[in-house]
Amino acid sequence: MYPTMTRRVNRLTLMNRIRQNLLPHLARPGRGFWGWLALQVMIRRNQRMNGWGVDLLMLQPSDHVLEVGFGSGATIKRMARIVMSGKVAGVDHSEVAVERAARRNWRGIHAGRVELTFANAVSLPYEAEQFDKVLSTGTLYYLTDPVVVLQEIRRVLKPGGRVAIMVRAPAALKKNPVFASGQYPTYEADEVLGLLHEAGFEQAWIADSPPDGTIIGVMGVK
Ligand SMILES: C[S@@+](CC[C@H](N)C(=O)[O-])C[C@H]1O[C@@H](n2cnc3c(N)ncnc32)[C@H](O)[C@@H]1O
Repeated sequence: MYPTMTRRVNRLTLMNRIRQNLLPHLARPGRGFWGWLALQVMIRRNQRMNGWGVDLLMLQPSDHVLEVGFGSGATIKRMARIVMSGKVAGVDHSEVAVERAARRNWRGIHAGRVELTFANAVSLPYEAEQFDKVLSTGTLYYLTDPVVVLQEIRRVLKPGGRVAIMVRAPAALKKNPVFASGQYPTYEADEVLGLLHEAGFEQAWIADSPPDGTIIGVMGVK
């Protein structure tokens, strides 16, 4: 093989190794370097998707908001700045994510406006009809039973409450070897819509996606 070709192959192999180590930590950040890196990647890569999700929810200052799968907690902090007289809650099934997000949101937690819970979203630790808005970004692919989680989200929403489910489009994930291998499912917008309908959201729709079409947002109203 020519030296330049060898270098390219080595670089590709290295990138694939990095992705393979990183991906399990995107599904559930663990301790150590890869868990730390996964949380940094989420902050950078999901910033736009989270910003769009927050815009779609049209948060009001008095809203009681829930984030399912908050990862780094950066969006919890962002939402807490908007819901000044309301509350932001979050669940994540990674202890490391809960610890890091708690550090990032210590002021809000201290003020009693932010509450972060270590929990699996298949059984949300809340009474029914608590929240005005629910956001979940980049988490759907990692859920083993997405309809059960969406039913739980519907249960904890107040009547008239809204959910925004944000995912990266399958076309944007196809270069990623772990998604390409089918280890985690990817979802087209109409498939996310189908899941919301299946979970009981009679009123649901696909939001107009930003021009490049790499991210998908689907809304539901209880
Ligand atoms: C790719 S990260 C996205 C984090 C954040 N929403 C963002 O956009 O940066 C997915 C997060 O969902 C969490 N998660 C995955 N499955 C979950 C479940 N069943 N219950 C609770 N959290 C879950 C993971 O621990 C991880 O923090």
